[in-house]
Formats: sequence, C-alpha cells, structure tokens
Amino acid sequence: MSTAARVSSEANAKDLRARIEARTAKVGIVGMGYVGLPLALLFSEREFPVLGFDIDTSKVNALSSGKSYIYRIPETEIASAREKNFAATADYSRAADMDAIIICVPTPLNEYREPDLSYIEATAKAIAPHLRAGQLIILESTTYPGTTEEVLIPLLEKGNDFELTAARDHANSGKVFFVAFSPEREDPGNDTVARRDIPKVVGGLNQASSDLAGALYRSIFNRIVPVSSPAAAEMTKLLENIYRCINIALVNELKMLCLRMGINIWEVIDAAATKPFGFHPFYPGPGLGGHCIPVDPYYLSWKAKEFDFQAKFIELAGEINTFMPYHVVNSVASALNTNRKALNGSKILVLGLAYKKDVDDLRESPALTIIEELQRRGVQVFYNDPYFPTVGRGRKYNLHMTCTPLENLAQYDCVLIVTDHSDYDYKRIVNESQLVVDTRNATRGIQSEKIVHC
Ligand SMILES: NC(=O)c1ccc[n+]([C@@H]2O[C@H](COP(=O)([O-])OP(=O)(O)OC[C@H]3O[C@@H](n4cnc5c(N)ncnc54)[C@H](O)[C@@H]3O)[C@@H](O)[C@H]2O)c1
Repeated sequence: MSTAARVSSEANAKDLRARIEARTAKVGIVGMGYVGLPLALLFSEREFPVLGFDIDTSKVNALSSGKSYIYRIPETEIASAREKNFAATADYSRAADMDAIIICVPTPLNEYREPDLSYIEATAKAIAPHLRAGQLIILESTTYPGTTEEVLIPLLEKGNDFELTAARDHANSGKVFFVAFSPEREDPGNDTVARRDIPKVVGGLNQASSDLAGALYRSIFNRIVPVSSPAAAEMTKLLENIYRCINIALVNELKMLCLRMGINIWEVIDAAATKPFGFHPFYPGPGLGGHCIPVDPYYLSWKAKEFDFQAKFIELAGEINTFMPYHVVNSVASALNTNRKALNGSKILVLGLAYKKDVDDLRESPALTIIEELQRRGVQVFYNDPYFPTVGRGRKYNLHMTCTPLENLAQYDCVLIVTDHSDYDYKRIVNESQLVVDTRNATRGIQSEKIVHC
C-alpha cells in the first residue's frame, strides 16, 4: 500500500469511527424484512439516523405512513422511530449519503436446492454506483463462506466509477471502502433473550473494517465477537444452523423409531434434558420450516463440492427432515384407518400454518407440503391459523384457502395439529373432535383415546 493511500484510508476510518461514537453516522439498511426492519429500529432507538432501503414499494409506503407489516412489531415502534429520524426509500441514489450500509436481503435456494445469490448480487449492483470512499458495507444475509469476498466485493469494486477498492491490509491502491460480514442470529418468537444480549459475530476484510463494524454494532449489542475474516463469520452462522438441522433430524428419526416401539419420545427428551451437562434438547416435529434451518445447510453442502467434499451429515439430515411431512400424512392415513375410514374423501382440519408457534411466518412451513399432499390424496382440507386469515400463492405453493373458524370440530374426520400456537385451547379441541393427530405434543397432559401422536 502506498503511504498516501494508507493515510487516506486511516483518515477515513478515524472519521467514520468518530461519527459512530457520536451517533451521527447515517445507517442505511437494505431489505426491510424480518431481519432488516428490527435492526433499523434498534439503531433508531439508539438515536442513529436510519434509512431503510427496499425494492418492495408496498413496504416502503407502509413504513412511510407509520404502518407495520410484521406481527410482532407494533405500529407505535415505527411511529417512534419515524420521530427519531427513521425513513424508508426505494431510491438507491440515497445510498451515497450513508456512512454505513447493512445488507439484509433474502438468500433462498433455487428449485435445485442450490444457493440463489441473485438478491445479494442485485443489491451490490444497485449500491456500487453510489459508493463513496470511507463507507462501511456489512453483509448480514446468511450465506456460504466466500460470498463476501468472491461475490459482494468484486461487484462493488467493478460497479463504481471512482475505482474505489475494499480496504485490505496489504494491497490498497487508492481510495477505499470498508467491508465486513456479520451474521444475523435472531430467533423469531423467542422472547427469552433480548436482541441486544445476543452476541454479534463480526469478520472484517481487514482489521480496520472489523474494528469499524464492531464499533457500529457495539452501539446496539452488548457483546461483539470478532473473528479473523468474513469467511469465518459466514461459516459460524452455518455451523449454528447445521447443528440445529442435524439434531432435529436425529430426534425426528428417533421419534419414528419410538412410535414403532411404543415409547413416548417427548417423555424421553424431557428426561434426558435433566442431565446437567452434555445434552441439549431438540424436539421432533412435522418437518423443518422457516427461512433458515431448511435452507442454510445446503449453502455449505453446495460450496463443499467445489472442494471435492461431500457434506454427508447435511445431506442425511436433509433427507430425514424432508420426509417428515410425508410421515405426517401417512400417520393421518393410519389413524383414519383405525377408525375404519380412508384418507381419500375425508375432511381434515389442519391447525396451524406458520412454520413454528406464535409467529406470522409461512416460509418453508411443513404445513404447506402437508396440505398439498393431503389434497393430492383426495382429502378435503381446511385450516385454522390466527396469524393467516388467508393463504394464497408462494414460490413453492398455490393454495388459495381461507381460515376456517375453530367451531363445529366434530364435522371433521380428523383435526391435525401442525403448529402448536399458544392461543389454542387444546383440551376443548380434543373434547370436540372425533380424532386428533398431534405432531408437536401440543396435547401433553390431556388423556384421551382420540389423540394419536405422530
Ligand atoms: N428471518 C429470520 O429470522 C432470519 C434469522 C437469521 C438470518 N436470516 C437471514 O437474513 C436474511 C434476510 O432474511 P429476512 O427473513 O429478513 O428476509 P425477508 O424476506 O423478510 O426480507 C428481505 C427484504 O429484502 C427486500 N429485498 C430483496 N431484494 C432487494 C434489493 N435488491 N434491494 C432492496 N431490498 C431488497 C425484500 O423486498 C424484503 O423486504 C436472509 O439471508 C436470512 O437467511 C433471517
């Protein structure tokens, strides 16, 4: 690095750090979804001027008129953020005015279960023309190790007109911007840990980038965990989610064995969880759901192939977890069979569409696969979920259904509990139904011959 380049890079870093400490640094958050919007509100709470970017103008319009589209974010929070200098826009030219830009866009899989980085690429291309020296760019979207350096940075460097480069310790030629990766670790619906108490892992491209990203996040998180590179931070997030995915697959497999052996798996897990060390409980269910656990492991197994490496644990866990919705449908068929009824022509009420209890998130929910499979096998399916008055069409489903009131339950041949929302009165549901198939142990403590666990 030339002396002039080093001096200018150091001056930029010092300048940005001072603005972060004074809370005058302008923070741009790209993607006003489940991750980006709460993050924007956290920065706003700490008095930073915040601008949310989203290509979805309905979200921008909602935020601009003080409305919330996420169940657990009340409109009062949006209103108080707006009073403190929070705004939303679809206009990327305003990125030039930001001191730090945090990217929280989706990272789904394509139809072949391969990483779809199109949202990160589109964001990088949209920001690049407006980049300026001294800005800090942080990627938060979950992705495979190497994305920040192999995908994000080249697009940012190529797309700007001022020959800006990402700050590296040994090879800066001129004016630089700073880059880091920091994974989002939120657990929607989990109120046991405050968001600011979740330690924030940060991996900068160089020390200055790491320090700046750490300083920015320290304003809203209580603990920063620096790692040596963006790739180490990217891998950290995948390790966490793969650990969950594999352990859920393990208990799902053991549940199927326990059903055959006449043992209650939930009783077993509760007993094992009393061990004060070396055991962390995971619970079986109707299949994986949400944007993370069913998706993220495949980011790593895809990348592993580039290194001639088969990530076998990930593939096996995927196989078991993907089978679970079909196991549920087969279990409903067996339960009906016991009552001398066929699946074909039966009337079934599915309770809960959300991928987990008490959230308004439908992404990758096993309920969708279960409903489609039941319909394919000739069932007249109804659903109830207080979080979804209707369900229409998504990337992988096309249902067009309306929420059925939770009454006259005896009319259904079976009530199938897919999501164990807290508001349901399970005792009443069991009392009024002919047959209840329970995928979540939601009916624990209720004694009835009508209940079938699966
Ligand atoms: N939801 C979670 O609980 C969670 C937890 C940890 C990590 N993550 C990760 O965080 C990332 C974001 O997830 P999410 O749940 O917030 O997704 P989301 O779908 O709720 O929100 C993403 C937002 O990005 C917007 N967007 C897409 N392309 C854009 C572009 N080019 N420019 C501007 N905005 C754009 C979308 O319109 C949407 O509003 C993903 O990588 C996900 O894996 C999510």
